[in-house]
Amino acid sequence: MKRILIIGATGHVGRQVLSQLTAAGAHVRALSRNPDAAGLPPQVEVVRGDLTLPETLDRCLDGIDTVFLVCVAPPDAFAPALERIAKHTRHLVFLSAPLKTAHPLFQQPNPFRARAEQFERLIETSGLQWTFLRPGMLASNALGWWAPQIRAGDVVRWPYLAVPTAPIDERDIAAVAVRALCEDGHAGAEYVLTGPQSLRQFEQVATIGRTIGRALRIEEITPEEWRRELPEFVPPFAANMLLDAWAAAVGQPAFVTSTVSKITGMPPRTFRDWVTDNAAEFQ
Ligand SMILES: NC(=O)c1ccc[n+]([C@@H]2O[C@H](COP(=O)([O-])OP(=O)(O)OC[C@H]3O[C@@H](n4cnc5c(N)ncnc54)[C@H](OP(=O)(O)O)[C@@H]3O)[C@@H](O)[C@H]2O)c1
Repeated sequence: MKRILIIGATGHVGRQVLSQLTAAGAHVRALSRNPDAAGLPPQVEVVRGDLTLPETLDRCLDGIDTVFLVCVAPPDAFAPALERIAKHTRHLVFLSAPLKTAHPLFQQPNPFRARAEQFERLIETSGLQWTFLRPGMLASNALGWWAPQIRAGDVVRWPYLAVPTAPIDERDIAAVAVRALCEDGHAGAEYVLTGPQSLRQFEQVATIGRTIGRALRIEEITPEEWRRELPEFVPPFAANMLLDAWAAAVGQPAFVTSTVSKITGMPPRTFRDWVTDNAAEFQ
C-alpha cells in the first residue's frame, strides 16, 4: 500500500482528502506547521513541518511514496521544498487551478495565477510523476465571502451578482485526489474539476438563504463599494483578482466539466448539498 503525505491537511481541501483516505484505510500522514492546533482526529499521524523551512520536510517525507500538496506558502519557498519532496517520493498530486481552460473567469492575469504557473513548471521538470487538480471556484469560498454577513444580519451586499460560477464541493476535489493518490494511471493527468451547475452568485446566496430558512435581502453593490466594505484580511491584490475575473465573465455561462463523475463514478455534489452540510457556518 502507498504511504501518503498530505501537505495542507488542515485546510478546506486537504482536510477532506485526509478524511477520505483515513476512511479508506490508507497509510496516511499529515503535515502541519502546528500539530497541536491542527484539530485532526487523534488516530492521524501529524508531523510538524513548514514549506518555508525545507529542513523540516525530511522527517515528514521519510518513508513516503506519494504527496498531496496544497501550497499557499510564498513563491520563494516552493523550489527548495519541491527538491526535498522529489528526493524522497515518486508521485505528487498538486492542487492547482484551471490555468489552461479558455473561459474568461480563469484567464485574467493575476499574482496567484503567475505563482501557480511557476509551481507547475518546477514540478514538470522535477523528475517526479505528477497529477494536477484544477478546481474552479470552491464552494467553501462562501464561508469567507457570505457567511460573515449572513451571521451578522439578513442583508448580503455583493458585486457582480449576475455572474455565474460552478462551485465545487471540496469533498469532490478530495474524491478525485484520493483516486489519483491511491491508483495507478493518473501520472501526467490534468483534471479540470467543477461543480455540476452554472449558478449566478445571486442564486448561490439565495440557495444559502433557502437552505438555512432565512429570508435574505441580496443587494448588488459596485466594485468600489465592495472594496470599501471588504474585511481587512482580504489583500487588495486578492480583491482585484476576483473583480477582474467576475468582470470578464459577465454574460458567460460557467464552465462545467464531468471530470468528477468520470474519475470517481459519482456525480459531483450540488451547491445546495454543500450548504446543507455546512449550514451551521451561516447561523
Ligand atoms: N478558493 C478557490 O476558489 C480556489 C480555486 C482553485 C484553486 N484554489 C487553490 O486552493 C489552494 C487553497 O486550498 P485550501 O482552501 O484547501 O487552503 P486553506 O484552507 O487556505 O489551507 C491552507 C493549508 O496550507 C497549510 N500551510 C500554510 N502555510 C504553510 C507552510 N508554510 N507550510 C506548510 N503548510 C502550510 C495550512 O496548514 P497549517 O496551518 O496546519 O500549517 C493549511 O492546511 C490554493 O493553492 C488556491 O490557489 C483555490
